[in-house]
Amino acid sequence: MLKTKVAIVGMGTVGTGVARLLLDHGDRTARHAGRTLWLEQVVVRDPTKPRDVDLPKGILTTDLQKVTEDQEIALAAMLVGGLEPARTMTLQLLESGKDIVTANKALLAEHGPELFDRARELGRSIAFEASVAGGIPIIAALSQCLTANQVLSLRGILNGTSNFIITKMEEQRMPYAAALAEAQRLGYAEADPSMDVDGSDAAQKLAILAHLAFGTRASWRDIPREGIQSIEEADLYYALELGYRIKLLAVAQLWPEGIELHVSPTLIKVGSPLAEVRESYNAVSVVGDAVGNLFFHGRGAGQMPTASAVVADMIDTAVGRTKITFQSLKLWSQDSSGAPLRDHSRVRSRYYLRFTVADEPGVLAQLCGALGRQGISIASVIQHEPRETGNGVQVPVVIMTHQTSEGAVVKAVAEIDRLSTVRSKSVRYRVADERSEIQL
Ligand code: NAP
Ligand code: HSE
Repeated sequence: MLKTKVAIVGMGTVGTGVARLLLDHGDRTARHAGRTLWLEQVVVRDPTKPRDVDLPKGILTTDLQKVTEDQEIALAAMLVGGLEPARTMTLQLLESGKDIVTANKALLAEHGPELFDRARELGRSIAFEASVAGGIPIIAALSQCLTANQVLSLRGILNGTSNFIITKMEEQRMPYAAALAEAQRLGYAEADPSMDVDGSDAAQKLAILAHLAFGTRASWRDIPREGIQSIEEADLYYALELGYRIKLLAVAQLWPEGIELHVSPTLIKVGSPLAEVRESYNAVSVVGDAVGNLFFHGRGAGQMPTASAVVADMIDTAVGRTKITFQSLKLWSQDSSGAPLRDHSRVRSRYYLRFTVADEPGVLAQLCGALGRQGISIASVIQHEPRETGNGVQVPVVIMTHQTSEGAVVKAVAEIDRLSTVRSKSVRYRVADERSEIQL
């Protein structure tokens, strides 16, 4: 049996899962790769830490050179998170002739052009299926299986931690902080979870998907994004009352004037596939002009689902499949060109608005007036009985609008927030348009 020597760099949540698959299911990988993927070295930061996998003696090291200087190691699974030292280590591995498999979307979204250019110059490859949506094979789908299509739209729940937190808040009334702590304990969250909950992680993944789907080389920093940190239990319940669930939705949509890209908490109709994605699951709904609607659903975070994607990439790299796709992939190359980004203020949607106002005559008219001045039409209003707070009697007013532009809503809400009758900052979430599920 042929043997390809491999290394794991970083053995936390994901690296441990990869080691388990290689060591406990070597027969499986050998069957699919036609060779043994032999785990030769594992690089970590702290060699004294207890590990959840029995490693063969002598392969755990803190010295990356044990990998870079071993000419027999063909590929490395780079599973250190964050930007540095992950970037430098990846470059060192490429320079020493290793092909790379990575799950680090932050690294790709920030340094993709540099790393991909260097890999191309050196005749090496970078595989990154695990970097977006964990175990869901969405990178392979977009870069290989759907290439006969013009992708028209892509909408996804791309952060498992956020989806887990929202699910726990909605279904079990778990407080936000407790749900986040549970997501961390289960290994879903990043080492610094702020990028999970502020929409940055989903924007990084969306930038990668949009690049594959539309050729658009957008920096994730330019993608308008909002996270789940300020979602209140009240909004989850008002949304349910209206027949919707709130999800952190990433959207990439092709329009004649450019690509619409954003990440934001969005109301999605109960019963539609995206609304029913629970816990750490992710989903991506893709519309292609030939294939029509596709829906991908699976675990987007966690040890074994992510390891599943990493090991599949290791097998593809070992047998030479990755090299072929990597060379034809124009990802982050100088000659990649795609549609420009659409002016965000012109993006149209329905909106959910919640205002907390004084219980006084004329207040509802003030809200309606401000919306009307921006040409915003109201679809429905919920106003429950007022409640006494330390700050006087306050009334929550929830308004669902008809389709309008982001720019108009921003102006109207800013005007409303300046009213003396408004008691706290207003809440504004998009409502997903069910019609955009089918574009053909
Ligand atoms: P993690 O649990 O924090 O593990 C990171 C690993 O990197 C640890 O083993 C750590 O070593 C090692 N490391 C850090 N700095 C190092 C250094 N200077 N030299 C050598 N090793 C170093 O992270 P993770 O959750 O496995 O995530 C790894 C990557 O996969 C991240 O980019 C993440 O975004 C991505 N990802 C994660 C998931 C998930 O569900 N967790 C899913 C998809 C993608 P020690 O163990 O010695 O501290
Ligand atoms: N922290 C990420 C998430 C891991 O929660 O989705 C998967 O990329």
